[in-house]
Amino acid sequence: MGRTAIILAGGLGTRMKSSLHKVLHPILGKPMILHILHQLMKVDIQQIIVVVGQHREQVMEVVGTSVEYAIQEEQLGTGHAVLAALPLVKADSKSTVVLYGDAPLIQATTIQALLDVQSETAAAGVVLTARVENPTGLGRVFVDAGGSVEKIVEERDASPEERENHCINTGIYAFDTRSLGQACKKLTPSNAQKEYYLTDVLPLLKQQGLRVVASEIANSDEIASVNDRVQLAQVEKLAQAARNRELMQSGVTMLHPESTYVGADVTIGRDTVLYPATHLEGKTSIGEQCIVGPNSRLLDATVHDNATIQYSVVLQSVVGEHASVGPFAYIRPGSTIGEHAKVGDFVEIKNTHLGKDSKVSHLAYLGDAYVGERVNIGCGVITVNYDGEKKYRTEVGDDSFIGSNSNLIAPVRVGRGAYVCAGSTITNEVPDDAFAIGRAHQVTKEQYVKRWKLKRQSAGSAGRESQDEF
Ligand code: UD1
Ligand code: CA
Repeated sequence: MGRTAIILAGGLGTRMKSSLHKVLHPILGKPMILHILHQLMKVDIQQIIVVVGQHREQVMEVVGTSVEYAIQEEQLGTGHAVLAALPLVKADSKSTVVLYGDAPLIQATTIQALLDVQSETAAAGVVLTARVENPTGLGRVFVDAGGSVEKIVEERDASPEERENHCINTGIYAFDTRSLGQACKKLTPSNAQKEYYLTDVLPLLKQQGLRVVASEIANSDEIASVNDRVQLAQVEKLAQAARNRELMQSGVTMLHPESTYVGADVTIGRDTVLYPATHLEGKTSIGEQCIVGPNSRLLDATVHDNATIQYSVVLQSVVGEHASVGPFAYIRPGSTIGEHAKVGDFVEIKNTHLGKDSKVSHLAYLGDAYVGERVNIGCGVITVNYDGEKKYRTEVGDDSFIGSNSNLIAPVRVGRGAYVCAGSTITNEVPDDAFAIGRAHQVTKEQYVKRWKLKRQSAGSAGRESQDEF
């Protein structure tokens, strides 16, 4: 049996006051419409049509070629949008689900259940309804004693008594495809907004003597829709709570889920502990038994088992097993922190490989470097990788020691088992097992300060200041 889904995404969503199309605003870091498509993939549906209109290039670029597009040139209402999609609907389609692109939390199980109700009751149309505390802005659904839908009245068109009804239209429907097509063609724009309302299809079907039923959803969080940025924040909050609940149920500990943000495509292994104010974004993947946070942000990061990251930012980089990052480290794109390696406080690492068991414990900058295994990078070490025009690479071999406050002027190579003395400025290659020191000789002048102070005192009594000698 053929099934079609139509997703309405024609209107720009003017209440968002945005140059980005409403259905592309992210929830859990992922465009709203992709959440809906992700759920539809899990339902037995053969054809997905997305109705696009304003800013359609934006929508089509994000959604891609896995769906069909119907173009609605002018946005004359939700019914008009479905009319635009009808010519694409396959001839063998028996049922059609209609969803609005601005309600991203809908679950596959709910869509499936709605389709089941439609086939079991042999209804021409089933509308998914919800009972909500605050129905402001939503269409009110009127259901008769027999459970069939009488009408749906938009808030703008509703009388004060009608507005008292808290049974609302979620904007999700299952139709008998043929009946939907016939009824859509009879729609007229006779309402406050002069639009073709899809909701008017239901009384039209009823007038034909067909069955139109309401199916009430148990969890009204799922149908929350976004019309402005306040609702965007509300939906984001609901999505986060659901996501965190799911992760905790799968074995992740969150000390403060309310401040823990985990993106839609992030994966986290069991027994990992997330401390408050941790943000895991993009394609981040965290292994088992890790500790992340507090106050950390990871974007497209891969963190292997038993690693610890505290008060740090990690972008597009890999952190190996048992490695430790932070507090206050900044790992920039293209970096790999090896197994059991340590990146300590106030260390910045960019496009650098830090080998297994190596340590860069404090106050250092490593950029465009390859650091081998068991290397100790002292406090204050800097790879001088940029000459104002180009970037250059630094290499440090296994088992080397780079003394504190050294500058490695790239391009430069320090061999294996080498020792760079503290305070050195290294401009030439240091061969394997060599010792390198590159700093000015110390000059010590005995009793110098004492003499200087005495001199200053006498100069002061003579009414002038002099440090000429220095
Ligand atoms: C709609 C419903 C309302 C329901 C609410 C649920 C109608 C008439 N009203 O109202 O009963 O309670 O959703 O969220 O259906 N769209 C198009 N083309 C158009 C107009 C809209 O594609 O010409 C798309 C929009 O991009 C959006 C969706 O349809 O994704 C809903 O449109 P919107 O204007 O947000 O409808 P509401 O006023 O919220
Ligand atoms: Ca809406």
